[in-house]
Amino acid sequence: MEKTFLMVKPDGVQRNLIGEIVNRFEKKGYQLVGAKLMQIPTELAEEHYGEHKERPFFGELVEFITSGPVFAMVWEGENVITTARLMMGATNPKESAPGTIRGDFAVTVGKNIIHGSDSLESAEREIGLFFKQEELVAYAKDANNWIN
Ligand code: GTP
Ligand code: MG
Repeated sequence: MEKTFLMVKPDGVQRNLIGEIVNRFEKKGYQLVGAKLMQIPTELAEEHYGEHKERPFFGELVEFITSGPVFAMVWEGENVITTARLMMGATNPKESAPGTIRGDFAVTVGKNIIHGSDSLESAEREIGLFFKQEELVAYAKDANNWIN
C-alpha cells in the first residue's frame, strides 16, 4: 500500500494542532503506521530540504524546522501522497483553500503548519530519512474493509 511522510512543523506543535491534524487523516480513512515527536538535528534538516539549498530562504527554512519539536508521521492508504497534499492545501496559505489544513490554520508561507511528500520518490526518501524500518508498523484494521 502507498505510504507518505507527513510532519507537523514546529508552529503546528506549538499551536496544539497535532491532534487536529492526526484527526483529519484518520477520519479521511488513512492509516497511521509510524509516528514520533522529535527535534530535528540541523544536518537532517539540511538533507530533508536539500532540493531548496540554492533558494534564498534555505537558511530560514532550516532554522525554522529545527526551532522546536516536530511530529513526524508515516501514513498509508490508496493515493495517500497526492490526496494528503490536497488536504494540506497550497504551499502559500494566501492561496490555500478554506477546508484545507493550511487554509484553515496558516497565514504565512514560512509558517505553514505541515509538510507532506510531493511524489513517490520523495515519500520513499523522506520516510527513510526519518524512520528506521522497524519503527513502521504493519497492521490490519477491520474498518479498512469499509474504506477500500
Ligand atoms: P513542504 O510540504 O513543506 O515541502 O511544502 P511544499 O512542498 O508545499 O513547498 P516547497 O517544497 O516548495 O517548499 C518547502 C517549504 O519551504 C514550504 O512549505 C514553506 O514552508 C517554505 N517556503 C517556501 N517558499 C518560501 C518563502 O518564500 N519564504 C520562506 N520563509 N519559506 C518558504
Ligand atoms: Mg516540498
